[in-house]
Amino acid sequence: MEIAKRLQGVGEYYFSKKLREIDELNKQGKKVINLGIGSPDLPPHPEVIKTLQEEAAKPNVHGYQNYKGSPVLRKAYADWYRNWYGVTLDPETEILPLIGSKEGIMHICMTYLNEGDAALVPNPGYPTYGSNVKIAGGITINYELTAANHYQPDLEKLELLDLSKVKLLFVNYPQMPTGQLPDMGVFERLVAFAKKHHILIVHDNPYSFILNDHPVSLLSIDGAKDVVIELNSLSKSHNMAGWRLGMLAGVADRINEVLRFKSNMDSGMFLPMQLAAAKALMLGKEWYDEVNAVYRARREKVHELLNLLGCAYSREQAGMFLWASVPEAYKDGYELADAILYKANVFITPGGIFGTAGDRYIRISLCGSVERFDEAIQRVKEALKK
Ligand SMILES: Cc1ncc(COP(=O)(O)O)c(C=O)c1O
Repeated sequence: MEIAKRLQGVGEYYFSKKLREIDELNKQGKKVINLGIGSPDLPPHPEVIKTLQEEAAKPNVHGYQNYKGSPVLRKAYADWYRNWYGVTLDPETEILPLIGSKEGIMHICMTYLNEGDAALVPNPGYPTYGSNVKIAGGITINYELTAANHYQPDLEKLELLDLSKVKLLFVNYPQMPTGQLPDMGVFERLVAFAKKHHILIVHDNPYSFILNDHPVSLLSIDGAKDVVIELNSLSKSHNMAGWRLGMLAGVADRINEVLRFKSNMDSGMFLPMQLAAAKALMLGKEWYDEVNAVYRARREKVHELLNLLGCAYSREQAGMFLWASVPEAYKDGYELADAILYKANVFITPGGIFGTAGDRYIRISLCGSVERFDEAIQRVKEALKK
């Protein structure tokens, strides 16, 4: 069957292919340690699970839900934004619950991009931005993030481009995969840039609570609401990746525009899950501290592993990955990742899958126990001896 033109140039998602290769190795008895994917291995808070169980046992919660989500969940998101980010959102009009923030990226592209419209996308960055822009018929213009510019967009360089076709600018801080923290000065300049060029900024903010003591929303910048919409997610902050819980925040017009597309795509979310999500959003500082204590211990192990591999990295990274440059001996991150996969049965992600600017990097996920990291370190030590 001939596939639609919109999928030309959009490959199968890297991890979906790589996981098949890892499955094959596992069938051969290799027991690969996967340090690739950022799916939290820790459970959600017990109260969250209890809420889901109790609510799911009720007879009247199983029907279709409101397209804009439960008012209880929208209020919980608004309280969360006020308490943690100092941002005021109207729960009635400025919040749209999503089935994960990943789907929100597609909704946004489908809502705003006409054939030939362009979107600025970070390189390296989350691959979904570029693929969704393409699927929606848009053109991706990559902007490079380099260690030399602290992985911040070079707005002076962007000013030199023809921006007439650009409608969207994707940004993401703490940045995945580089772990770069947000910079308020850069945020202010981004808002001014978007206003000057009539561009809508999409800030993707799923990592602000992981290994970061100061969660920041781009919406907290003065006047940002005019030009910014922000995606957020419970996947990482609350260990609920498989539940598929995300949200979009922005002014009422933007929310209604995106809802116009989204309401044609899905029919809302299971109410008990929304109520459990509201519970998760009410958790206090102890929750985040507890989760981060675990990630901090793991990060030490990953530093050890990276030292062993001779990689260079910053110790100031936020989010649930470590980003590191590969030593000269390797052509690129792919070569290092394959060497480790086939010699040590440890999978790490080559940085190139996040864009060409990541070619000389690797990314290691913190989603594994300290014991697993110890085992990975042991295996790599053995492999390096050979
Ligand atoms: C930068 C970034 N944005 C969005 C997502 C998607 O998260 P969600 O589970 O909310 O769809 C991810 C997931 O890995 C991510 O790394």
